[in-house]
Amino acid sequence: MSNKQRKILVTSALPYANGPIHIGHLVEYLQTDIWVRFQKMRGHQCIYVCADDAHGTPIMLRARQDGIEPEELIARVAEEHQADFAEFRVGFDNYHSTHSDENRECASLIYQRNSDQDHIHRRTITQAYDPVENMFLPDRFIKGECPKCGAEDQYGDNCEACGASYSPSELKNPISAVSGATPVEKESEHYFFKLGDFEPMLKEWTRGGHLQNEVANKLDEWFEAGLQEWDISRDAPYFGFEIPDHPGKFFYVWMDAPIGYMASFKNLCDKTEGLEFDEFWGPDSDTELYHFIGKDIIYFHALFWPAMLHGANFRTPSAIFSHGFLTVDGQKMSKSRGTFIKARTYLDHLNPEYLRYYFAAKLSSGVEDIDLNLEDFSARVNSDLVGKVVNIASRCAGFIKKRFNGTLSDNIAEQELFNQFIAAGDSIANRYEQREFSHAVREIMALADRANQYIDEKKPWVMAKEEGKDQELHDVCSMGINLFRVLMGYLRPILPATAEKSEAFLQIEPMSWDSLQQPLTAHAIAKFKPLMTRVEAPQIEAMVNDSKDDLAAQTQAQAEKPSGPLADDPIADTIEFPDFAKVDLRVVKIIKAEHVEGADKLLQLTLDLGGETRSVFAGIKSAYAPEDLEGKLTVMVANLAPRKMRFGLSEGMVLAAGPGGEDLFILNPDSGALPGMKVK
Ligand code: MSP
Ligand code: ZN
Repeated sequence: MSNKQRKILVTSALPYANGPIHIGHLVEYLQTDIWVRFQKMRGHQCIYVCADDAHGTPIMLRARQDGIEPEELIARVAEEHQADFAEFRVGFDNYHSTHSDENRECASLIYQRNSDQDHIHRRTITQAYDPVENMFLPDRFIKGECPKCGAEDQYGDNCEACGASYSPSELKNPISAVSGATPVEKESEHYFFKLGDFEPMLKEWTRGGHLQNEVANKLDEWFEAGLQEWDISRDAPYFGFEIPDHPGKFFYVWMDAPIGYMASFKNLCDKTEGLEFDEFWGPDSDTELYHFIGKDIIYFHALFWPAMLHGANFRTPSAIFSHGFLTVDGQKMSKSRGTFIKARTYLDHLNPEYLRYYFAAKLSSGVEDIDLNLEDFSARVNSDLVGKVVNIASRCAGFIKKRFNGTLSDNIAEQELFNQFIAAGDSIANRYEQREFSHAVREIMALADRANQYIDEKKPWVMAKEEGKDQELHDVCSMGINLFRVLMGYLRPILPATAEKSEAFLQIEPMSWDSLQQPLTAHAIAKFKPLMTRVEAPQIEAMVNDSKDDLAAQTQAQAEKPSGPLADDPIADTIEFPDFAKVDLRVVKIIKAEHVEGADKLLQLTLDLGGETRSVFAGIKSAYAPEDLEGKLTVMVANLAPRKMRFGLSEGMVLAAGPGGEDLFILNPDSGALPGMKVK
């Protein structure tokens, strides 16, 4: 199994230095950390670097608002970020800042080399300018009425009411969000990176196996739309690096941000004997380089970044791994619902290992969004981790301690079962490698079920009361402990703290993947201490309540992400027409509607499909009283596989429209439609 040792450099996107880490960010840092820990367990050299993204207008303005220098703001936030990451066990090998000497050097070099190759050109443009603050205004700092629908108080790049995209000059009655003044138009010379020069190289690169398929497809659309020059400069006042030899002109934050990956690594090289910068970044590097990012910043990482690197004679990334966005209880994180949960608020109430496990159980290699359902979160952690995994150790450890002097038996009782556990390791490793963590978790939990089954069959608690069963009791409990050890080894990338506690309990060295193959025999273990407690509902409630109180966390992070074709063009999870055609939509008549005992959102509907009746649970209690529904028509998905719910079997789904709460519409006004009719 121990193949050649790989040399791997891994990054996560650099969080903005003007806001706190929240659980949405953590999807990324935990995904990356799990992957890195896995690689390390496999014996590879895997280096994980990150940094704060410290530049840009929002950070400058935020510091101004707080009456401090930007340097002070970014130093404070850097500390907070790193404290949060440390408690979540995100194991960076180095954490740096884009506002650093290394980054200034690397950014200047990359700029200079591209410039020498004629990939940078200057041109005068006209932009909105705040005549009171004497500054140019990024799109997001101009507000006004939407040119399409007239909605007030909309940003300069797109309308949240109707979704239209436009340029700030089209806004009606624009004002500066900084001073409230009416912006004027002003000219200034800007520096542009000629992305189009790299079209052939990029086309080849994006189809060269460096991107997920859905991402490569998205890039095709961008190629079709044409690669535009990229404005990499900003005028003073700006918090960033001045462009060499061009006083008053600064690098745009997104120009030096990815270079921060390099800078952080360079900073690590300077502190680490034998670690060579060129080995990882030189044009002929044969090491691996991976960037984990969210789907909102693909344009920057899959187009600008490889082009800039290539133009400056550095290596390009081996791959870019994009993930989807986090929703909580099916919706965007929201301050009013208390689901905009800061890392710190989570830590005030819950064990970080729970969230690591939950995300792992949900994460795949794709770009789909992932949902944190708070009820499901408790249920999963309690049943899988506490109920299945930790339970194995606690069921066996007491007997070993009390009856066998804390020492495991000198043979392995069920070699065949142990072998099965070891054999599963290859497939689990493969899942980790492919970032199919949810599959890895599923396979590990299937093994946990096997281990519990084994103990249930052997019933050590019965043996313990019987004469002459000492040897067998010893063997069974030792076997249980050995199975627990292998499971904990497989879970180690996901649950580093629990794994460490288990290692202390088992009195073993930090587990590597290979070390698991050798069972523990005639080995002394320590006293068992509970490794993990259950998630309790009041903890979750308290966390949600604290998140509601916390309105101060308003982040301006999005401000530096232009919309339109650049960033706010996330990859939609689309389905193809044949998928849609599979959905059998039917008109149905609601013949009965009843309250469901113990459910605050559900109604149980009995539906007539034109002869056949179905029972369906629908989350529409907020909008309808049962008596309003009976006798009315609606539309249902008739071929949805029946689903067992807590309250009974649901045999389909009714379709509703509207924003939710009291405004939820499922009823088709009686229009001559007949139950059972296919909806076209
Ligand atoms: N500073 C830029 C990245 C520069 S990388 C050279 C940035 N910062 S961010 O703080 O807004 O986001 C950091 C990472 O967290 C991004 O990859 C982003 O996609 C991810 N996420 C931020 N909110 C998220 C969710 N709600 N869900 C999942 N990932 C999220 O972008
Ligand atoms: Zn609008």
